[in-house]
Amino acid sequence: MSERGKSKGPAPRALKVRVKKKRVKNSSRRWIERQLSDPYVHKARAEGYRSRAAYKLLEIDERFKLLKRGQKIIDLGAAPGGWCQVAVQTVGSTDERPAVVGIDYLPMDSIPGTTILELDFLDDDVPDRLIEALGAEPDLVLSDMAAPTTGHRNTDHIRTMHLCEVAADFAMKVLKPGGHFLSKTFQGGTESDLLKLLKANFQSVHHVKPPASRDESVELYLLAKTFRGRNPELE
Ligand SMILES: C[S@@+](CC[C@H](N)C(=O)[O-])C[C@H]1O[C@@H](n2cnc3c(N)ncnc32)[C@H](O)[C@@H]1O
Repeated sequence: MSERGKSKGPAPRALKVRVKKKRVKNSSRRWIERQLSDPYVHKARAEGYRSRAAYKLLEIDERFKLLKRGQKIIDLGAAPGGWCQVAVQTVGSTDERPAVVGIDYLPMDSIPGTTILELDFLDDDVPDRLIEALGAEPDLVLSDMAAPTTGHRNTDHIRTMHLCEVAADFAMKVLKPGGHFLSKTFQGGTESDLLKLLKANFQSVHHVKPPASRDESVELYLLAKTFRGRNPELE
């Protein structure tokens, strides 16, 4: 993996690749073409990141300065591991003193310095298990969780928004005062009640679309910065 920071500079440019094979389904052909043409996919491969998603976190961090050495981090929806890789190299997590815990219900290969839980975040005992694995209150709760797509846009939207809401609730129960919460959301999707709650509990709340997030995607990130501390009403 490249040293963090070497990937700075302008967003990489798109290449045009066409897949000719007739037997490939249209949707699969479009996916393959997009992957082959996507400069972030090439960059991730060249720099040793497991996913192009790594650049979304790097770009958000470049702008908002969230990650710092010595922090403790929980990464929800971690597979295949790009965000964990970015987190580990920034906070200086090691196998002896792991400071990053990633969770996904999909299996993922181990990452040095990361404790990985192969569990569903929505299971009742998981919040406690995450804190137990980290051994401390986190400085950052990251969530890139996305529900598997059903093809029905509204259903996908509602399910991913639910993940964002549960992640926000978790963050407000476990974060260290001064900590931050970053979560995938959708354009126009964040419930006003959730925004109100985040604004009351964090010093600032931002919607962020990093350059690595595809223009055609409705994906957006919700960033709540500087947690004010636990509210006994949420306990
Ligand atoms: C966009 S991917 C995350 C990519 C990751 N940030 C990276 O950098 O490689 C979303 C992940 O969320 C996971 N996910 C969705 N719902 C989940 C849940 N309830 N519990 C755990 N993981 C979940 C999916 O399995 C998927 O791997």
